[in-house]
Amino acid sequence: MFVASTYLKEEMVDEVDPDLAIFNINELITMSSKYGAPRIGRDMCELAIINDGAIAVKDNRIIFIGPTEELMSKYEFGKISTKVDATDKLVTPGFVDPHTHIIFDGTRENELSLKLEGKSYLEILKAGGGILKTVRETRKAPIEKLVENGKVILDRMMSYGTTTVEAKSGYGLTTDSEIRQLKAIQILNTEHPLDIVPTFLGAHAVPPEYIDRSDEYVELVISEMIPKIAQENLAEFCDVFCEKGIFSIEQTRKILNVAIRYGLKPQIHIDEIIDTNGALLASEIKAYQTGHLLKSNDEGLKAMAREGVIATLLPGTPFCLMLDEYAQARKMIEFGVPIALATDLNPNCWTESMQMVIALACYKMKLSPSEALSAATINGACALERQDEIGSLEVGKKADLLVFDVPNHKFLPYHFGVNLISKVIKNGKIIVDNDLLT
Ligand code: NIG
Ligand code: FE
Repeated sequence: MFVASTYLKEEMVDEVDPDLAIFNINELITMSSKYGAPRIGRDMCELAIINDGAIAVKDNRIIFIGPTEELMSKYEFGKISTKVDATDKLVTPGFVDPHTHIIFDGTRENELSLKLEGKSYLEILKAGGGILKTVRETRKAPIEKLVENGKVILDRMMSYGTTTVEAKSGYGLTTDSEIRQLKAIQILNTEHPLDIVPTFLGAHAVPPEYIDRSDEYVELVISEMIPKIAQENLAEFCDVFCEKGIFSIEQTRKILNVAIRYGLKPQIHIDEIIDTNGALLASEIKAYQTGHLLKSNDEGLKAMAREGVIATLLPGTPFCLMLDEYAQARKMIEFGVPIALATDLNPNCWTESMQMVIALACYKMKLSPSEALSAATINGACALERQDEIGSLEVGKKADLLVFDVPNHKFLPYHFGVNLISKVIKNGKIIVDNDLLT
């Protein structure tokens, strides 16, 4: 499944002069290792660190990575147009956020008081709130508004260090409005510096006009939405919210098998509120990634480990739902399930910050800082099948990287709730420079 294909040949790299160099990096996390595979088990702690490291970039590619001394002897320093002195700083691969719902209109800040009264997520949804409130508002929004909203979110994600993001539809729930959401993603992908991976999530909730007729809605998803979306090439992945009272295991299997036939890659929201055996289904259909997994059982997790299905953990969601229970990350690591981290940004759980997610992962799911960083970079890239381009810092890969104003990676969860970014470099260009802020 994981094949590296687009690396530059070493000899080609040796002939070019860099246009950007970062040097004196106190701690350079390269994340390099077996190309193309997610880090699993103990390997999640292997960050492949270079102290006093340096990186050289030409156009959008990394052409050198190693000790500062070597960079200085290899290239004519004065000729490099952009030079970044990273003394006392940390450099990592750009964050990959592989599970988000960023295309929507309207907000849900009022639901906080309902949660404080003890109302559950599904109770709020049943009463017409939650996803259904966002659906009502998103359906009314013209594409320009969806693009405008998405741009604000992407700008903030970028300022917190995300360089590649997945984005789902799922707040339209009609063929036209789902397509409108996916077209908004397509526009953003051409207009915004971040790379966006589009996912069709028509099966996110049963729309009000299909209440008590969910099978008929599933039929609409498989016979009309998926064929159209595949034909117009509007999505790379297909996702389903598989949950008791939303879409059943059987309905999810049916939708994803059709999606696969149309060339869409499967992923699933599973076992968030109730264990419906979503993890087993995910391994059966060989999903690329799964989201939530708060209630997944051991048998399902072991099956996921065997099939290499990635568990994308979303600790922002139980945090916003005021739950005490989080996904059992330690157990998953012990079983050998590959773990990624994501924001799950949506109107219920609204954070753009992968730094915040890393902190939650450490404090609430007991990941170590190294494990959390692997999950937020290389494993996120694997969840989106982009591991041959991004997720680690290696010669030939895209120059998507972060300079943090801290001396080492342990600071990422330690100094939490603030933005530690000094610079974001995307495709070889500095796109965020907090050092210039006054
Ligand atoms: O992953 N759980 C399902 N979907 C989203 C939430 C969507 C919403 O509440 O608007 C999630 O958490
Ligand atoms: Fe989600």
